[in-house]
Order: sequence, then C-alpha cells, then structure tokens
Amino acid sequence: MASGQLSREEALACEGCRHACHVMLFCNTNSKLFGKIPIRHIPLMQMRFDGLLGFSGGFVNLSKESLEEGLRRELSEELGVDITISEEHHVDACFSPTSSLSSSSRLILHFYVKKMEEEEIRKVEQMASSTAADHGQEVLGMVRVPLYTLKDGSGLATFLSHSFVGNARSQLINSLQRFNLVPPQELHKALSRAME
Ligand code: APR
Ligand code: MG
Ligand code: MG
Repeated sequence: MASGQLSREEALACEGCRHACHVMLFCNTNSKLFGKIPIRHIPLMQMRFDGLLGFSGGFVNLSKESLEEGLRRELSEELGVDITISEEHHVDACFSPTSSLSSSSRLILHFYVKKMEEEEIRKVEQMASSTAADHGQEVLGMVRVPLYTLKDGSGLATFLSHSFVGNARSQLINSLQRFNLVPPQELHKALSRAME
C-alpha cells in the first residue's frame, strides 16, 4: 500500500476522523471525435461551486449512514439519480492533503470507481443538469474527461492542467492507470506535457 494510503478497515477505525466519499463513474464508448478520433471511455467529473474540478460525492456521516449509503445520498443530491455503490467499488482511502494534523479535524477521502453503460452515463448527465437538487448551486455542470491526445498535444494533457479539488487530480490519474483507460505511454506523455 502506498504511503498516505489507508485500508478501508484502518480508515473506519480512525476515531474522530471525518469521511468524504467521491466516485468516478465511467463507461466505454465506440463514438469518435470528428468522426475519426476514438473517445474510448467517458469518465465523468464535475465543475464545482468553487470553480475547481472534482468528482461527485461529499461528506458522509458515519453515525447515521455507511460510507456507501452516504455516497449514494450525495449522488442523489448532486446528480439527481439513484446509483447503488457497493464495497467492491471502493478503490482507496487516504488522509486529505489539506486537512490539519489534529485528529479531530482529520479528513479521510474515500474513492470509488463504478463502470456503467453508455446509456446510464447519458442519463446521469441529463438528470444532473435538470432535476438534481444541487444543480446550479454546489454543482455547476458535469464534464467528460477527454482521454485522447490531439496532434497539437491538447486533449488529456490540457484537461490535467486545470485546477482540481483535494486529491481529485491524482484520483483521476490513478484510476486511468488502474483501469487501463489510457495506454501507459500515452498517459506518461500527457502528464509530462501537463507539467510544462
Ligand atoms: N476528490 C477528493 N477530495 C475532494 C473531492 C474530490 N473529487 N471533492 C471534494 N473533496 C474534498 C473537499 O475539499 C472537501 O473538503 O472533500 C471534502 C468534501 O467534499 P465535497 O464534495 O465538497 O462535499 P459535499 O458534502 O458535497 O459539500 C458540502 O462542503 O465543500 C463544502 O461548503 C462546501 O457546501 C459544501 C459542503
Ligand atoms: Mg454534496
Ligand atoms: Mg460534493
């Protein structure tokens, strides 16, 4: 386990810690940009109220709900859809890089990844911009992450150079790697370019 990472059990055993759960919903797609560039996968992120990009989800109250129940509640508020999340979607937990060291305010960020059908992802986008309670308030809009690299180098690298909340940027990069959504060499190039 990488440093700073916690197992689910260690995270749940932390006394006085607060917990937040976020999820990357994604699907495969055969669609092509300009009719020729394969889009391959559609991972969803959101533009938040603070102008930062992040994943859907939020604070969970473990005295009232489980991690997954809390995440499901956050998704219904932010996306306007009922999405079942289970323990098998939990991919990691770590201390927030921005929370203070005092245990009473330490925040543990749990991250989930769930693969869906393309139809379901479209439905999420529709509901998030129409009936979701948080639309136009905490959530300004859903965005698809471009995973391709165009001839001029734009695409994924440009997306990665935006500003992200908390550890959302590394959650995104780690998931692209773990679920093999971008070939390793392409991801490596996009990361180097994003840092230029
Ligand atoms: N990845 C990692 N960490 C994140 C992500 C993300 N995608 N999104 C948010 N965080 C961090 C934030 O920095 C915040 O500290 O997790 C914490 C809670 O996440 P939110 O999604 O912001 O929480 P939510 O419950 O949806 O919003 C409730 O909390 O952020 C404040 O005042 C804000 O009204 C909002 C309230
Ligand atoms: Mg929320
Ligand atoms: Mg939120």
